[in-house]
Amino acid sequence: MALRVGILGAGHMGTTHATLLARDERVKVTAVADTDAQRAETLALRVGAKVVVSLEALLDAGIEALFVTTPNTTHTAPVLAALAAGVHVFSEKPMATSLTEARQLLEAATRGPACYQVGHNRRFAPAYKAAKARLADGSLRVTSAHIKMNRGELEQPPWVGDRAVTGGFLYESTVHLLDMARWLLGEVAWVQVVGGTHVYREPDDFSMLLGFASGVHATFTSCAHSTWLFPFERVELFGAHAALGTEEMARVQFAPGPRKPVQTQEFGPLPIPEKWGYAEEDRLFVEAVLTRGTPPVTAEDGYRAVELVEACYRSLMQGERVSLPLA
Ligand SMILES: NC(=O)c1ccc[n+]([C@@H]2O[C@H](COP(=O)([O-])OP(=O)(O)OC[C@H]3O[C@@H](n4cnc5c(N)ncnc54)[C@H](O)[C@@H]3O)[C@@H](O)[C@H]2O)c1
Repeated sequence: MALRVGILGAGHMGTTHATLLARDERVKVTAVADTDAQRAETLALRVGAKVVVSLEALLDAGIEALFVTTPNTTHTAPVLAALAAGVHVFSEKPMATSLTEARQLLEAATRGPACYQVGHNRRFAPAYKAAKARLADGSLRVTSAHIKMNRGELEQPPWVGDRAVTGGFLYESTVHLLDMARWLLGEVAWVQVVGGTHVYREPDDFSMLLGFASGVHATFTSCAHSTWLFPFERVELFGAHAALGTEEMARVQFAPGPRKPVQTQEFGPLPIPEKWGYAEEDRLFVEAVLTRGTPPVTAEDGYRAVELVEACYRSLMQGERVSLPLA
């Protein structure tokens, strides 16, 4: 019997996940719900599912797993309801948009028995996996880093410019590489942030310093209105006469020494679902559910990412260094 999956939110990410799941023979996408009936209809037709009108109807439809792919501030309630009903959950990032909600979700997910995974897809992108492999095999011992996570604009889809729906710009795009920083370099011990409100009605331009428990330090910039100049997303890791740089999820360059040739790995030609890690994150979620295993991105990971965002906003508002973990 295939795993019966429901989709809440039939927009860009709902369509991305449902399309991937429909290709997985272990899965049957059975039902789709969206507040926009037309979108639900279009996606349901695409993946051979039925349309239902609400979260409750999804849960009543006998689904075993739920993908929550609605805008950021609407994740917590359906995830809690699904977990309480014993339904496994894949939630798009961010886990939540406040520390209080993230704690509730962490507790609910830890109680079990259902599996819960957060959509920090970058961890499954071959470019970032290649970077992580260089750290794991000891070819680069990082002393410091520079990270950039920009957005071209906050206009598409329209809700990304509405803080009431995103939770704030840092929850929208920046959270991806805050999670990446932690995944690559370990726990963050403190952040110190300056920023400005220049184009939109919320802080939209950040310069941040991150101190890691390991002693590594990093600069991190994030601008919401920088155009889509390539690469809008970049990680640079520096070591003793060695360095590594990613360009979005398309390319990784590794310089093993001052006069040694730079080694380049190209991922640009890969289809987006593979290049951006969506295919593997969905495959591994299904595997975790079917084997009752630990999901590859845990509730703890989701919580730490929310905590990092909150720490950055606190540092910006208070004008001082903020230590983690937050009380
Ligand atoms: N991991 C990634 O790379 C990535 C990329 C883009 C978006 N996202 C995340 O995915 C989520 C969805 O983003 P998107 O780009 O697909 O947005 P979208 O606007 O394309 O789709 C969201 C859909 O949810 C529906 N919706 C809104 N509120 C609802 C509710 N209460 N109940 C049911 N349906 C509801 C909307 O009608 C819309 O169809 C967001 O949390 C976003 O941060 C992640």
